[in-house]
Amino acid sequence: MSQQEQWRSKIGFVLAAAGSAIGLGAIWKFPYVAGTGGGGAFLLIFLAFTLVLGMPLLLAEFMIGRMGQSDPIQTYGKLAANNKWNFIGKIGVFTCFILLSFYSVVGGWIILYIIKIFSGGLVGLTQDQYGQLFGEIISNPYSTIAAQLAFMLITILVVAQGVQKGIEVASKIMMPALLLLFLFLVIRSLSLDGAIEGVKFLLVPDFSKLTSGSILFALGQAFFTLSLGVSVMLTYASYLPKTQNLPQSALSIIILNIVIAILAGLAIFPGVFAFGLKPNAGPVLIFSVLPAVFDHMPFGMLFFLAFLLLFLFAALTSAFSMIEIIVAAVTKNDTRRRKKVTWVTGILIFIVGIPACLSYGALADVQLFHKTIFDLMDYTVSNILMPLGALLIAIYVSWKIPKKDLYTELKQGSNVGYALFSICYFLLKYIVPIAIIIVFLDAAGLSHW
Ligand code: PHE
Repeated sequence: MSQQEQWRSKIGFVLAAAGSAIGLGAIWKFPYVAGTGGGGAFLLIFLAFTLVLGMPLLLAEFMIGRMGQSDPIQTYGKLAANNKWNFIGKIGVFTCFILLSFYSVVGGWIILYIIKIFSGGLVGLTQDQYGQLFGEIISNPYSTIAAQLAFMLITILVVAQGVQKGIEVASKIMMPALLLLFLFLVIRSLSLDGAIEGVKFLLVPDFSKLTSGSILFALGQAFFTLSLGVSVMLTYASYLPKTQNLPQSALSIIILNIVIAILAGLAIFPGVFAFGLKPNAGPVLIFSVLPAVFDHMPFGMLFFLAFLLLFLFAALTSAFSMIEIIVAAVTKNDTRRRKKVTWVTGILIFIVGIPACLSYGALADVQLFHKTIFDLMDYTVSNILMPLGALLIAIYVSWKIPKKDLYTELKQGSNVGYALFSICYFLLKYIVPIAIIIVFLDAAGLSHW
């Protein structure tokens, strides 16, 4: 096997992994699930799940990724000295393939909104008209497919460049830009009259609004936004030298992810309340509410453009990680094959995504299990394959890899104490699997959802 590629810098790895984590999950999904799930109370539960369950799982993927120094499939067989375990990696690679095929559809919508700003089509509409416009934009078969293709092409072009020159360089520019732009937007949003209502909605918990459904959503959301369970974090960690401080990196990524989710909420809810809109508008929240919010501001469209650009960055850095693990698995880290494999994989993902793209227009009536093709793919990935992957990884790492080997790995590059490690290990071995089984049963039982 050829030599593994490596990240060039410690911060490069952290930003690339944070880039994978921060994406549609934190910026698009989080505000609307928080808006539907009860605001502040939802945020609190989400934070607890992220720290108590997300942290041990993230560390688990980091530890075995760096230990294995291999690709997302063979790592499992290599460390357990039995190739049967490779199936965990295979599930992850398959999941990322399907995930990217519909993720790129939403990525395409962002591109279409950016184009719409330049054609001036987003100015001066009523709230209802913004909603209608969203419907029109996503149901046009030609432009949505073209935009989805554009999103995939950017992804392919960056990832074909390799880990250092492609993903690392892009993340190093995109992630700080994202944080800065977000801060700017939040300041603008907080200066609106009546903004305080939105801030209260997000930050003051009202536990009476919490339902068991929203608790489970918070759990799924915590895994989804951290890209857990599909061996993405494992693969990124396989490009690490032994000098990287794994607990510190994991904590930085988790904090960045939380900060962005809160900033997204703070950018959106003050506007929603200031203009008397509803926080529980659902998936259209960002696309139909934000243009209305920005339209009310001086230079509003400029702000909206800034927002869309950073939204696109965030979606792209997540997309890079999804295709990267497929490329890593197929090329088995043979860098000579990277370009070709990235192109072939990317085009295949685009083709598989076309029906998902059309399910908001021409194929809207095609339903399986009472779901459109898009929803069915999303449901299968988010509610079945990702929790299953996370469950298998938690079990594999805590029951199959000796505890002392894990600790030895973790200690390289960090001076984390045994007690702290043991707490994480305990969470991984017992609490994470039990929690996932609960979500899993719920996913199975909530099929009418
Ligand atoms: N974390 C990404 C997001 O929030 C989604 C993702 C899931 C990326 C799994 C990679 C793997 O958008």
